[in-house]
Amino acid sequence: MQNKPYAESCDQNRDVILSVIKPLLALSYSVLEIGSGTGQHALYFSHKLPHLTWQTSDRNENIGGIKLWLSDSAQTLPEPIELDVNNNPWPDIDCDAVFTANTCHIMNQDSVVAMFSGIGKLLSDGGQFIIYGPFNYNQRYTSQSNEHFDQWLKSRDPESGIKHFEELNHLAALSNMHLTNDFEMPANNRILHWVKRGD
Ligand SMILES: C[S@@+](CC[C@H](N)C(=O)[O-])C[C@H]1O[C@@H](n2cnc3c(N)ncnc32)[C@H](O)[C@@H]1O
Repeated sequence: MQNKPYAESCDQNRDVILSVIKPLLALSYSVLEIGSGTGQHALYFSHKLPHLTWQTSDRNENIGGIKLWLSDSAQTLPEPIELDVNNNPWPDIDCDAVFTANTCHIMNQDSVVAMFSGIGKLLSDGGQFIIYGPFNYNQRYTSQSNEHFDQWLKSRDPESGIKHFEELNHLAALSNMHLTNDFEMPANNRILHWVKRGD
């Protein structure tokens, strides 16, 4: 039998992320999570934010693990959806918010472009996009540990790496998503929050 995958980082960062996204999502009804990984964040956030439908998604290789987490839980979440941001068309998902954690630095630049474009098409006016992770500003790392992390990422996959805030914000603007918040988070991470306005 397959063992449930486990990401320790999810247990470490879930409460600080929750403290930021809780007010942002207070009036939302349905969240699409991109790159859900193990599904641990999804279970925790949907437990703490019971007014939301939390739709997990990821590339095919992670769907089995997410299903194991969801089936072991007393909570009822929709089945995970296979979504690789590079594959079009995206599944037709009814949501007014998109959340993703720790995905941009794993993706190559083309995938990041595809992610922003796909989210731009999915969200209607007023829809929100929230990203958690490390980002560079003014072409600089925000810490030495992020620089080391970036070097480690690139040693595994030269196309991966920490992305630049300014480039992400430009991609968001191309899809009519406007930066509303940029929160400083522990361990040199950020939460970026855009709202779609004016198609
Ligand atoms: C470091 S893990 C983060 C998982 C989880 N969100 C977390 O914070 O623990 C990166 C995730 O990005 C997903 N990912 C990478 N490339 C992707 C793509 N092209 N489309 C969708 N998800 C992708 C991976 O499958 C993986 O689940």
